[in-house]
Amino acid sequence: MSQNPRPERLRRFIDRLAGLLDQQPDEATLLDHGQRLLAELVAHDDWLPDDLAQPDPQRYQQYLLHCDSRQRFSVVSFVWGPGQQTPIHDHRVWGLIGMLRGAELAQGFARDANGGLTPEGPAVRLAPGQVEAVSPRIGDIHQVSNAFADQVSISIHVYGGNIGAVKRAVYAADGSEKPFISGYSNTRLPNIWDLSKESPAQ
Ligand SMILES: [Fe+2]
Repeated sequence: MSQNPRPERLRRFIDRLAGLLDQQPDEATLLDHGQRLLAELVAHDDWLPDDLAQPDPQRYQQYLLHCDSRQRFSVVSFVWGPGQQTPIHDHRVWGLIGMLRGAELAQGFARDANGGLTPEGPAVRLAPGQVEAVSPRIGDIHQVSNAFADQVSISIHVYGGNIGAVKRAVYAADGSEKPFISGYSNTRLPNIWDLSKESPAQ
């Protein structure tokens, strides 16, 4: 794959999501429409640059693809090495998770009467093209893992803020929380703005 293939796909998604946010929709409307926009983006697996699709043997990677100039939203590629998983964590902002390649399992958690965390329903398996939502309103605590022990999986996440800088938490099974700021795995963003390389139709 070339260095930066089909940059118009991500550019179009960013443009449409910014337009949606300009309308200041309520969260349910935002998640509903945003879900459709993200489903369109992950319907094709031909646009993520290779350097932002690289797994790390130690730890899952989160590469920033774009951050809105007002930090209203960020777009991240999550790259899972074989068998890798997150700790139990929250987000504190709305989020959309679109599966691009491979598959992942997301287990939601809810607080029980003793303040501990218990799994909420069965784990959801996301296949390429599918999109899931999280938010403090609809359920914000989960643990995500690569569904495959022998291959890389990649999902594209969109959050209602600059997620790498959001002060949030990871949780132990007893429900105790530890402060968490994720940061990002990359120091440079993909250049999706060089329109001179594209045909006028795009
Ligand atoms: Fe998450």
